[in-house]
Amino acid sequence: MTKKILILPGDGIGPEIVAEAVKLLDCLRADFGLEIETETALVGGAAYDDCGSPLPESTLDLAKAADAVLLGAVGGPKWEPLEIALRPEKGLLGLRAGLGLFANLRPAILYPQLAEASTLKPEVVSGLDIMIVRELTGGIYFGQPRGVETLASGERRGINTLVYTESEIERICRVAFEAAMRRGKRLCSVDKANVLECTELWREVAIRVGRDYPEVELSHMYVDNAAMQLVRAPKQFDVMVTTNMFGDILSDAAAMLTGSIGMLPSASLNADNQGMYEPIHGSAPDIAGKGVANPLATLLSVAMMLRYSLAAPEHAERIEQAVSKVLDRGLRTGDIASPGTETVGTAAMGDAVLEAIRAAAA
Ligand code: IPM
Ligand code: MG
Repeated sequence: MTKKILILPGDGIGPEIVAEAVKLLDCLRADFGLEIETETALVGGAAYDDCGSPLPESTLDLAKAADAVLLGAVGGPKWEPLEIALRPEKGLLGLRAGLGLFANLRPAILYPQLAEASTLKPEVVSGLDIMIVRELTGGIYFGQPRGVETLASGERRGINTLVYTESEIERICRVAFEAAMRRGKRLCSVDKANVLECTELWREVAIRVGRDYPEVELSHMYVDNAAMQLVRAPKQFDVMVTTNMFGDILSDAAAMLTGSIGMLPSASLNADNQGMYEPIHGSAPDIAGKGVANPLATLLSVAMMLRYSLAAPEHAERIEQAVSKVLDRGLRTGDIASPGTETVGTAAMGDAVLEAIRAAAA
């Protein structure tokens, strides 16, 4: 059955990197029999400029009707003066909430070819392969009450609230335990249970869910220590599971262990395995429009989409192997360049991946 993919290029470098993903999907459809149809819509600042909303209803409706959504990136300085409710980021948060994408999978894998690109010593990061499972539709990002209110004294007070129900914690923990079962069978749950009652509950529920996964070794870590351990000895981790906010922060740190945030894909899934796929980097307004952005995180996001939402793991492997081949050839975008490699632009990198896919099949 033909699967529907909604393409949301977004802002900044989003359209450039997504163009490479579209080329890739077209190639898989034309040459490898992948049965998909694609549609494109606006989100983020581009949507705000077009119709005054970062998430037009039409875009959310198309997303709901799709089997998977591919998103580039949203945001940029142009929209920073807007109130939070109208900012491009609200488009992203609205998609996550609207589609119920509570499980965010953020792998951090160091390609051996890029060991030199990490700011950490090669022995600390070589062979790194961790998976951060971030809760994505709850916690302080969405908790009520929220806002800025004016007190009787005239002083203003800003409020955000950290809330999790047991069922929200339970379902994300299950996703993390399942991921651990498919990997190294070790799960570290990250909380701040020494200070925050909400995450004391998190820990209790994680332990309870763990009883269903006796093969998985469950450990717990406070988030400050986890941040430290990630840069001290990251290879001690297999799968990490944590709240929305902690996961936001830890996944940026984990990404940088691999040398460039430009390499890492992500998947955000709901209970039906419908998903939104995006590179974990942002819209990089400083290099937008220059044709130098690294498209590999987006191409690897397509691979995750094929694996998790489109049940086509053979195509996912094609992409992942092609990316590795291209790195072997010494091709690099500026963000991952090192002495002795050849620096190429966005489109040339995308073309090289297609070539490698075709060559592998020839
Ligand atoms: C991310 C981003 C988003 C988040 C922003 C753009 C809203 O940092 O996906 O990690 O905080 O979740
Ligand atoms: Mg983030």
